[in-house]
Amino acid sequence: MTTLEDLIRKEPKTVHGYPIVCAFSHNWERIEQFQWRPDDIVIATYPRSGTTWLSEIVDMIQNDGDIEKCSRTAITEKVPMLELFVPGLRKTGTEALEKMPSPRLIKTHMPVDLIPKDCWKNNCKIIYMARNAKDVAVSYYYFDLMNKLEPYPNSWAEYLEKYITGKVSYGSWFAHVKSWWDKKENYPVLYLFYEDMKKNPKKEIEKMMQFLGKNLDEEVVKKIIHHTSFEKMKNNPLLNFTNISSKMMDHNVSSHMRKGIIGDWKNFFTVAQNEKFDAIYEKEMARTTLKFCTEL
Ligand code: A3P
Repeated sequence: MTTLEDLIRKEPKTVHGYPIVCAFSHNWERIEQFQWRPDDIVIATYPRSGTTWLSEIVDMIQNDGDIEKCSRTAITEKVPMLELFVPGLRKTGTEALEKMPSPRLIKTHMPVDLIPKDCWKNNCKIIYMARNAKDVAVSYYYFDLMNKLEPYPNSWAEYLEKYITGKVSYGSWFAHVKSWWDKKENYPVLYLFYEDMKKNPKKEIEKMMQFLGKNLDEEVVKKIIHHTSFEKMKNNPLLNFTNISSKMMDHNVSSHMRKGIIGDWKNFFTVAQNEKFDAIYEKEMARTTLKFCTEL
């Protein structure tokens, strides 16, 4: 039987052509057989794009801004990750979701191609949040330093090379953001940007409310903005993954809520790395209308 120790610092495994966290790749049929419900709300992101932030906002919208209700349990329990599978954990993502009452909030980092067909058939609402590639690279590097379900990232230079070539879990950032951008043309996908949310959270929260068919007072929206500010979230243990065993995540190395800013990449990319990245970016993003902001 596979134990957690067997999965520590392992390279991702390929699932239908995409690199997936080795632990999560086990018994993938559970994802394909998952029973979707038409009122499921999916929160989809490439890793480190503000998933927890988005999840907490959506949970607050669904609960009419009631902080007490939103403090019922840790974010990992309120918004289970579909593909989660860790030996020794009481429940996998799919098992946790099966037991949840509707409407469920479902987190996933999966690229469009791995989302099971039944999700599209059920016309489930999906909120996708994208974040600029450079800040994601830095944030993902720090996350992989502390998250032992990922291979050890070694140096920043080495990691950046893997990231650019899509050899990290969930594959290429470019393919991820582009395929979800295209998907919104034919399915109920609300496509948001981390940077827009930083600049004008009210506007983005209102877009989410409209998409979810919720009408909340201005005061409630203000409360949601306050409760989900970076400072508030950083100090909220329910949102910090501190419920996850130190065998899996070492919070002394880096925290889940790290800096929460736009443009931190400037502290890490060398001039040469930035030039190389920009050249690849231009090629990869040449045939899309998708545009990102990388600084304030
Ligand atoms: P940094 O590492 O750049 O600080 P995810 O939840 O997808 O793993 O994303 C984590 C990233 O989102 C981290 O980025 C984290 O700090 C940032 N984040 C989380 N909550 C935030 C908030 N309320 N405001 C801004 N950024 C937030």
